[in-house]
Amino acid sequence: MPSPLSIGPLSPPDVDGVRALAAASAAADGVEPLSEQPLLRLGVDEGWLTHAVARSKAGQVVGYVQVDRGGEDASAELVVHPEHRRGGVGRLLLRTAERDATLPQFGGTAGHHGKRLRVWAHGNLGPARAFAARAGYVVVRELLFLARPLPGAAEPAGAAVPPGYRVRTFEPGRDDDAWVALNARAFAAHPEQGRLTVADLHDRMAEPWFDAAGFFLVEDADGGLAASLWTKVEGGDGEIYAVGVDPDHQGRGLGRALTSTALEHLAGRATRATLYVDGDNSAALAVYDRAGFARAAVDVQYGPSNGAII
Ligand SMILES: CC(C)(COP(=O)(O)OP(=O)(O)OC[C@H]1O[C@@H](n2cnc3c(N)ncnc32)[C@H](O)[C@@H]1OP(=O)(O)O)[C@@H](O)C(=O)NCCC(=O)NCCS
Repeated sequence: MPSPLSIGPLSPPDVDGVRALAAASAAADGVEPLSEQPLLRLGVDEGWLTHAVARSKAGQVVGYVQVDRGGEDASAELVVHPEHRRGGVGRLLLRTAERDATLPQFGGTAGHHGKRLRVWAHGNLGPARAFAARAGYVVVRELLFLARPLPGAAEPAGAAVPPGYRVRTFEPGRDDDAWVALNARAFAAHPEQGRLTVADLHDRMAEPWFDAAGFFLVEDADGGLAASLWTKVEGGDGEIYAVGVDPDHQGRGLGRALTSTALEHLAGRATRATLYVDGDNSAALAVYDRAGFARAAVDVQYGPSNGAII
């Protein structure tokens, strides 16, 4: 039996312990169990964010769950060390997340009835599927991971931006607030991307992969921001990290033109182009299908079957 959970902000050694646990899980499964946002938040102490750690008798971090109650749903990511699975740790962490989801986003919010819990399973591998089924959870959202090879030299020129628009690169310090506002407009309906704050932007700008030369903005004739394209090159992959078009400028070919801009930028810098897209975003899927992308993996979100929405 695992020792009881400790719930609360992570000490610096526990942050290291969770990173080591995630690395051991990734090595065993071939998929990173925690995505970028929870990893960036390991050291964060906020009322809407919960960290719970399970330890072995020897004190090693063998399980971890992070629950984010800041959005419309409570979103959890959980992982158990490969050598400590099938011992009930996952069940304990999931129960903790379920209880946590019923807590108010901010302490003492009157009339709060809790949020729906959503649990990510990156890669949706066999153990996660069996675990979720045993807990009575069903898939409520699919996030597709698409990929296509990149040419070693130049990518043939694709669609250009429509007349009246101009592409330039992001200027750190000058464009931060305007980009966050554009991103919120473009992703108003998106559970994670639309919530990015200036602090989240700065966290990413501090990462080793950040390169303003791969972060493009589209201005309209008045100099306002109409769209943006952010790319991320890491480990041979060139990710189309975020493409956002302001709703007032959608339907004019900016998404397609920015996909071409991304592929032209990434060619020679990475061996394959990648991106994540929601499985029900048919407009974006059509653009990426035409650009030669194919499904390489899928991340899913599970929810309790009694609260299922699809
Ligand atoms: C999924 C995961 C969290 C399960 O953790 P765990 O500690 O092994 O889970 P538990 O021991 O609490 O298992 C609870 C039940 O789930 C089912 N289950 C879990 N793993 C299983 C597997 N590999 N095969 C079949 N059933 C499994 C069983 O019914 C199990 O009960 P039992 O052992 O009494 O038969 C773990 O495999 C993991 O960390 N995977 C990588 C990260 C991940 O996918 N996270 C998302 C989870 S939705």
